[in-house]
Amino acid sequence: MADPGIRDYDYLVTGGAGFIGSHLCERLLSSGASVMVLDDLSTGSMSNLVNCVSNRSFGFTEGSVCNEGLVSDIAAMCRSVIHLAAAVGVENIIRQPVETIEVNVRGTENVLRAAGRKRMRTFIASTSEVYGKGEAVPFSEEGDLVFGPTSRSRWSYACSKTIDEFLALAYSKDRGLPVTIGRLFNTVGPRQTGRYGMVLPRFIAQAAAGRPITVYGDGRQTRCFSLVDEVVSCIIALLATDRSIGLAVNIGSTQEISILDLAATVKARTGSVSEIRIVPYDEAYPKDFEDMQRRVPDVRRLKELTGMAPCAGIEEIIDRILASGIPQA
Ligand SMILES: NC(=O)c1ccc[n+]([C@@H]2O[C@H](COP(=O)([O-])OP(=O)(O)OC[C@H]3O[C@@H](n4cnc5c(N)ncnc54)[C@H](O)[C@@H]3O)[C@@H](O)[C@H]2O)c1
Repeated sequence: MADPGIRDYDYLVTGGAGFIGSHLCERLLSSGASVMVLDDLSTGSMSNLVNCVSNRSFGFTEGSVCNEGLVSDIAAMCRSVIHLAAAVGVENIIRQPVETIEVNVRGTENVLRAAGRKRMRTFIASTSEVYGKGEAVPFSEEGDLVFGPTSRSRWSYACSKTIDEFLALAYSKDRGLPVTIGRLFNTVGPRQTGRYGMVLPRFIAQAAAGRPITVYGDGRQTRCFSLVDEVVSCIIALLATDRSIGLAVNIGSTQEISILDLAATVKARTGSVSEIRIVPYDEAYPKDFEDMQRRVPDVRRLKELTGMAPCAGIEEIIDRILASGIPQA
């Protein structure tokens, strides 16, 4: 679907048919930039790109970031790269541990190698999961990362993204690649699906259907949720400043909410009659599942570099999602 007239795109967005990627593509196109997406449509969908496909500055290639030759060919047509393609979602990761490691490590390696040839301005999406079960909240980028044992496959996502970060920083130091790493905390908004274990779309879909809203664990674990539009603004702002080169930067809201309170807020906002049902971890996940109690970002670095940080409240976020339709779950 690439426009044969365009040989030179401003941005390559891997994973652009996904939740965050599709919002990012829309924003980049609306700013007048040209965008090429590489996506294998494993968790993403062309329906996410309905607002992009008719734009002449937009190109789409279906394929995997694990295909080194393809990544190299596509990157050769682009000036900068935003690498979002990854195996995501806790349920997905537990179900497909081999794919998680391969896509997240090999895919990123391919992207960095291709970007390194032309020293393309590069953004690599990492995750708050890299903080593992650290308890030193708020998490600062220079703080320690604390993982569980390799026998528990949930840590493979965090470790695979950590390897991505090491590799990206090695390319920055060794090869002069102008790369920035964004550690995204829970990002939510319209078009996010609950099919891969994402909590907020799952709660909204359950509430809308009048089914029990299922809270895993005791519900006292907390998270900070950021609206996707604000996260997209942060990614673009980080790419726009050379001062972010060679750094990992937290991107997230600092407004903390327990999962039980999240369920109650969803129930209230949707006017649902659903009961809120506690489901112990060992019923929701395979044996030995480990979760983190709190995950709050320190956003001083983000604010210092960009002058912004996500700040939309959870009620506004839920209303924005509801206004765009009930998520799939
Ligand atoms: N949403 C969040 O809360 C969150 C939090 C932390 C980090 N992230 C990171 O942000 C990025 C985007 O996540 P998202 O929430 O939009 O998820 P998503 O699943 O909607 O997007 C990922 C996209 O990558 C594509 N993809 C997967 N494997 C691929 C492959 N081998 N080759 C090409 N494309 C492939 C999928 O089809 C999908 O379109 C990911 O790197 C994820 O780790 C997201």
